[in-house]
Amino acid sequence: MNENIYPRASSVTPEQRRALTGQRAMVLWFTGLSGSGKTTVAAEVEARLVVMGFSAYMLDGDNMRTGLNSDLSFSPADRAENIRRLTEAAYMLADSGQIVLVSAISPTKASRDTARRRISPRCDFVEIYVSAPVEICEQRDVKGLYKKARAGEISDFTGVSAPYEAPEKPELMLDTASQTVDECASAVIAEVMRRQYLPAMTEAALCAGKEIMDVYGTDDFKVELKADSSPLTIADKRANAVIVDILKREFPFIPILAEESADDRSRLYSKHCFIVDPLDGTKEFIKRNGEFTVNIALAYKGVPVVGVVYVPVTGELYSACRGGGAYRKRSSGEVERLHVSRRKSKLVVMRSRSHGDQREEELLEKYKDRIARTVTAGSSLKGCKVAEGEADIYIRFGPTMEWDTAAMQCICEAAGAILLQTDGTPLFYNMPNPLNDKGFYIVNRPENDFINAR
Ligand code: ADX
Repeated sequence: MNENIYPRASSVTPEQRRALTGQRAMVLWFTGLSGSGKTTVAAEVEARLVVMGFSAYMLDGDNMRTGLNSDLSFSPADRAENIRRLTEAAYMLADSGQIVLVSAISPTKASRDTARRRISPRCDFVEIYVSAPVEICEQRDVKGLYKKARAGEISDFTGVSAPYEAPEKPELMLDTASQTVDECASAVIAEVMRRQYLPAMTEAALCAGKEIMDVYGTDDFKVELKADSSPLTIADKRANAVIVDILKREFPFIPILAEESADDRSRLYSKHCFIVDPLDGTKEFIKRNGEFTVNIALAYKGVPVVGVVYVPVTGELYSACRGGGAYRKRSSGEVERLHVSRRKSKLVVMRSRSHGDQREEELLEKYKDRIARTVTAGSSLKGCKVAEGEADIYIRFGPTMEWDTAAMQCICEAAGAILLQTDGTPLFYNMPNPLNDKGFYIVNRPENDFINAR
């Protein structure tokens, strides 16, 4: 850099920009061979993000080469310069608060690492390897360039006459030979959701857990009865307050439906809504059997897209993003991806500790040949047991509130389970009345859906 240049830091802070945009800026860097599907997937992700209310902008290699980079060839030096300019453009857009999608072959590890080093101090840099065998890209040959390269009409063609260094540890890998565009885009969206929402939702759940354990550790706490005669303790109230504080601080534009907060119904005008149960299983909390959870979900257009269930007593944290898998983090820090079991017989059925039901009894009797045992547990833990494959079915005929099921549903579905209302219809959220009076069930696989056996 010329010694007579004096860069000036902006007086506008990233926090100010975040408050304006309501989103975390980030750079999603799509790398892969020509014809691998980078631009197709990135364009789909950009379109979906914008529809969801994010400010996202794509920088495409081909497009950039018609403008800012129109002076560059495909020599190694010019490709490096191409990536340098893309990096700087992405940096500026991200600095202004955008979610930036870069789609460029970016064939060398060195140039991608340079991009990462430049961008990651400012915001998340997410390297997405769009992988497809060169034979498949060549078969697709959407632009007819492989044919020209084979005929010697194009020199230095990546994958034919120029090298491509595949990323060793990308944040995300997409296999466009086996996954559809829809699946690839969903995986990227899940990664974006995870980075946008999970840190604050997790922080809120852990802080709530701390409030709850403070009360749990005291000798005596007062139990009030609410209008519906369900119990309420100071732990519910303190956990509710801390969660609402954190979510409001981080996401001032997203309304919250929380069990212990008044519902002002402004949420009905929003596509997004947090759905919060600060202490699910208050009865178990009072009985001191440890089977209570903190549930925080984010619903988008009625569907839970991010979910966190925290178990304060064990320190286990279940989390999921729709389309991105479900995970359990133990208090030791060990993280494991969750999958439902594949069992079709000798099923393990979860039952509520505090809510029995005649119809449930009859169903269990009718299908007793397929059931090995029933297990009782409190709160959302029942769903988590299905998500982690320890149990196969959870049936609940009684009414529930949206905050009882939203986070658990996200986790179960991301682990491969199916959740339906007892009449076989889907369960939606952020409804005018947050009461679900049809009951619901979760099954590990469609063959075990004997509740709505067709
Ligand atoms: S990069 O290697 O410098 O990152 P970039 O993504 O900007 O490449 O541009 C690649 C696009 O340029 C390809 O999708 C293709 O349409 C076109 N192209 C033209 N010549 C070549 C070439 N020799 N190698 C690769 N792509 C080429």
